[in-house]
Amino acid sequence: MNAAAETALELLLEVEHVAKAFPRGDGGELNVLDDVNLTLREGEIVGLLGRSGSGKSTLLRLIAGLSTPSSGEIRFAGRPVHGPSRGIAMVFQGFALFPWLTVEENVVLGLEAQKLPRDAMHQRAESAIDLIGLSGFEAAYPRELSGGMRQRVGFARALVVHPRILLMDEPFSALDVLTAETLRGDFLELWAEGQMPIGAVLLVTHNIEEAVQMCDRICVFGSNPGRILVEIPVNIPRPRDRLDPRFRALVERIYVEMTARAPRPAARPELFPGSGIGTVLPRVSSNLLAGLMETVAGPPFGGRADLPVIAQSLQLEIDDLFPVAETLQMLRFAEVEGGDIRLTDAGVDFANSSLDDRKLSFRRHLLAYVPLAAHVRRVLEERGSHRAPKSRFLDELEDHMSPEAADLTLRALVSLARYAEAFVYDDAAGEFRLEEAAA
Ligand SMILES: Nc1ncnc2c1ncn2[C@@H]1O[C@H](COP(=O)(O)OP(=O)(O)O)[C@@H](O)[C@H]1O
Ligand SMILES: [Mg+2]
Repeated sequence: MNAAAETALELLLEVEHVAKAFPRGDGGELNVLDDVNLTLREGEIVGLLGRSGSGKSTLLRLIAGLSTPSSGEIRFAGRPVHGPSRGIAMVFQGFALFPWLTVEENVVLGLEAQKLPRDAMHQRAESAIDLIGLSGFEAAYPRELSGGMRQRVGFARALVVHPRILLMDEPFSALDVLTAETLRGDFLELWAEGQMPIGAVLLVTHNIEEAVQMCDRICVFGSNPGRILVEIPVNIPRPRDRLDPRFRALVERIYVEMTARAPRPAARPELFPGSGIGTVLPRVSSNLLAGLMETVAGPPFGGRADLPVIAQSLQLEIDDLFPVAETLQMLRFAEVEGGDIRLTDAGVDFANSSLDDRKLSFRRHLLAYVPLAAHVRRVLEERGSHRAPKSRFLDELEDHMSPEAADLTLRALVSLARYAEAFVYDDAAGEFRLEEAAA
């Protein structure tokens, strides 16, 4: 698009210097979004690509007027957003249908705020239902429909208001791969034919391929706090073919952007001032940690590999591979840089060791490089009972992160500690114990 064409298209959405912080239990604040800037013009599909927990849903809620920014401004068609706008509709990941209402009643619900005559409401609902491929199911209840059909109802309910802006929060991620592919294809076809009664689309996703397939521009979103790291135009003609070398090259490029900018908790302690235990840990399987080291150490990679290639050979999605690579980096078994993963000497040793030696090495690294692990272990050692309730550590973590993140972090820690035989967690008693599996 040249500059003249760009200015000709109406600016529908402006997000300017938007920040959002939530209050924490201790009176402090959790900064979820920081200085987010974004525009959306008539006719565009813009992607917001980021990992889970980066603040994407929070941003969509601000744009939808369901919540207020801590600072900055959001304008819809030139006017500041101060609450839900009639011209903005949202499709949710979890469908959000009312089980006791039929398909048509669920769709009509989207129109409730617009005081239309009954006939007009009925007609609008019919045409939205028709457009999205639900004809014949008007009287069905959500429970009678497949996941894909339910999400079609979710789309119809948003389309029925003829929104200027459609916000989509991971609308395909709760569907199986084939259903998602079909629904994406149908959506893009209607969009290309100009049949969608929508001005522009903001699509939130954590799936790079989905972003490249659907969007005109992709805003890559970073975490902690959430912000836009880079904006990438997608100049591949539609309909797009995943196997097109240009498609592959762009997926690779974005992959590199995202891994190059992945957070490095262990390497940057200054990000977590104070006790140093406030790093959010991702939940990863210890089998995958060991498996990734083995794969990278073995032929043909010899200690260094391209992450996309590894993802493919392990049949993993980007969202599954990142946390694994990152955890290895945190434990100093690997370094992640520019889309590559390289094992450290310790990582190579690990891959070539016996099971017992692996556990020893893993425990050493866990206690040396994950301050939270060392902290829990120290507390357990100091107590005569060698036990401590989970709530004690949860309280501490909640000074640094949201209650959900604190809970996930402790679960992630437990799984790493179990593998390392550093300590265990007794779910029934709700307490940590210094009890080596060998004992
Ligand atoms: N109402 C809230 N109060 C406190 N923390 C919140 C609230 N909503 C979201 N968060 C926190 O903000 C962060 C980003 O969440 P979210 O926007 O849902 O991320 P995403 O959609 O990218 O997965 C998470 O750490 C989450 O726990
Ligand atoms: Mg979300």
